[in-house]
Amino acid sequence: MEMLEEQRENWGTRGGFVLAAVGSAVGLGNLWGFPYKLYSYGGGAFLVPYIVAMFCIGVPMLILEFSLGHMTQRAAPDAFARVNRRAEFVGWWGIILGFVIITYYPVILAYCFSFMYYSIQSIITGNALPWGGEGAAGVANAKSFFYDAYLGFKEGTELGQIRYNILIPLFVAWIAMYFCIFKGVKFVGKIVWLTVPLPFIMLIVLTIRGLTLPGSMKGLVYYLDPVWSELAKPTTWRFAFGQVFFSLSLAFGVMVTYASFLHRKSDINNNAVIIGVSDFATSFVGGIAIFATLGGMSYATMEAGQAVGVKDVVAGGPGLAFVAFPYALAQLPGAAWWSLIFFFTLVTLGIDSAFSITESVLAGIVDKTGWKRSIVLPAMSLVGLCFGLIYVTEGGLNWLGTVDGFINGTWGIAFLGLLECVVLGWMYRVDTLRHHANERSDWRLGRWWNFSIRIFIPVVLGTLFLWSLFDDVTSVGGFIRTPEGEWIIPNCVGFAVVGIAPVIAILMSLVKSPLRQEHGKQGEFKYPTHPVGLKLGKAAFILSTAGLLLIAWMMKTGNQWPIGVALVFGLIGIAVSNYVLEKHDVGDERPTLLSRWAGIIATLDISAVIAMTLIRMTKTAGDTEAIAETSDKLSGVSYTIIGVVALVVVGGLGWCFYRAITAASKDQQEEPLDTLQID
Ligand code: PFF
Repeated sequence: MEMLEEQRENWGTRGGFVLAAVGSAVGLGNLWGFPYKLYSYGGGAFLVPYIVAMFCIGVPMLILEFSLGHMTQRAAPDAFARVNRRAEFVGWWGIILGFVIITYYPVILAYCFSFMYYSIQSIITGNALPWGGEGAAGVANAKSFFYDAYLGFKEGTELGQIRYNILIPLFVAWIAMYFCIFKGVKFVGKIVWLTVPLPFIMLIVLTIRGLTLPGSMKGLVYYLDPVWSELAKPTTWRFAFGQVFFSLSLAFGVMVTYASFLHRKSDINNNAVIIGVSDFATSFVGGIAIFATLGGMSYATMEAGQAVGVKDVVAGGPGLAFVAFPYALAQLPGAAWWSLIFFFTLVTLGIDSAFSITESVLAGIVDKTGWKRSIVLPAMSLVGLCFGLIYVTEGGLNWLGTVDGFINGTWGIAFLGLLECVVLGWMYRVDTLRHHANERSDWRLGRWWNFSIRIFIPVVLGTLFLWSLFDDVTSVGGFIRTPEGEWIIPNCVGFAVVGIAPVIAILMSLVKSPLRQEHGKQGEFKYPTHPVGLKLGKAAFILSTAGLLLIAWMMKTGNQWPIGVALVFGLIGIAVSNYVLEKHDVGDERPTLLSRWAGIIATLDISAVIAMTLIRMTKTAGDTEAIAETSDKLSGVSYTIIGVVALVVVGGLGWCFYRAITAASKDQQEEPLDTLQID
């Protein structure tokens, strides 16, 4: 169904859009976030939740966001408002979290700019890199260069002084972002032909360099050998899912906005798979480049009699990109050049992700207010830069880590993804989106996709959310306050940031848009005037509510026996309400609100039952902390992992291109050439 016929700016070519979306997805998260998360949460075992999350949840949701943006031709808030007036806040919620990211993401880019500058300085002067050094003393030097000399880092919650050496490159980062997007998306569609392939080429160079170093296998053992016991921990799953959302730029409104600028005839489904597979491949290869080089570093230091192990240098988070890797590169011949390549890769990877968030916030505001882009963009950049000042202080990195952890790991984005699926799956006719995507795509989505958006994804994300919640509540002494009654300030602030987002989102959605009336309300969800499925809906509602009450009672009394009953109630509730929607949400018929709420409550039932079972199972399994092998030969399992990943990537991309080519040649036979050009 076409909702809007107006002329909206577009990407120009299919390649422009795919590259821009890949550019947004592939960013610092791939080279900086993924490898250390994989290493910290089970090595190769982390790939299990990651692949599940990427292909069972990430890609179907990407299709959801693309079709929503494409159908409505609106940025996220307005897009949600057009399908259900009360859902506008969901779009704003993502945009606000995106805005929080855009206050700190360029700060990491600023670090990269600085390290690029130091590398160039070293190339020009011929002096050693400032973080260089040998053996354990060298590691200490690399650490102290980043934390003391560069950041002036102070532990604790105080911000301290502003660091001008970070502020200046931060300014540069914002200027660069500004110039990439100030001309509009058509120009972005051109810029990405440079900013996307370039880092890929450099990444391949870095990977080959890493793999050809003696000792590289030792690094890969750390990266890939699985620690299966990590799979029993909710944190592993939480970080895997959070990383997939962050990495695919899902739920921040970016992909909705980008698709809103897509030409009317462009494919949706195939593009989503291409983007998902490319993002996954980049993360995986990025990890190989990083860990192979660390293995090489470990070997080189051993040869020099100053042995430094991979474990000694891999610190969490930024430590990997700004301490371990620079140190490793400093051990190689031509160190300054390799550093320059590495940090330039990071800059080119990160810049298109950064401006994609800016674009989504910008389009959200412009679509709602009708204000001029040329005024909103500079104002927004200035506000983003000002908030960024928090992170360029001496204590800034602490806060950056805290805020990032809350948005991407603990409470933030996966929950919003859940809400998105619930709103579009239960409160809207999701089949409309499926048809919209199918009408123009290289291949068609089956009905399974409806069930996936309506049932599978909400149950999985709901389980994850509740499992983490139960785990936090039961295993941590206190989240906001210590058992001794002291406030845990970073958690309070992190909690406040993610907690305030929905409040602002609701307020934003209440502001009247001068443009809304003008465009009418075509396609908007209408509340039933001739409701159908009345009896069945009521029955499902009663059953699932009874299930929920049972669960509440179980939690209160610690009694476990009715868990099976609650599960059965939930399953029947979801089956019936899903039946009502599939059967009656067609044509002019509209199932009742009660039948929709029945489905949502039943989803909660099932999630809670699975979460409770998981808690019990993982508690009885005990802590079987295993330590990664330290041999320098990859195990058979690791080779299998590499094989499976290669199959997913090569097979997946091969299939997508095959479908694109066959679809294009079919189109060409059916349509005159001039209508195909823009696609
Ligand atoms: N996907 C980007 C990365 O992996 O680095 C980060 C990102 C971009 C997150 C856009 C969120 C977003 F809206």
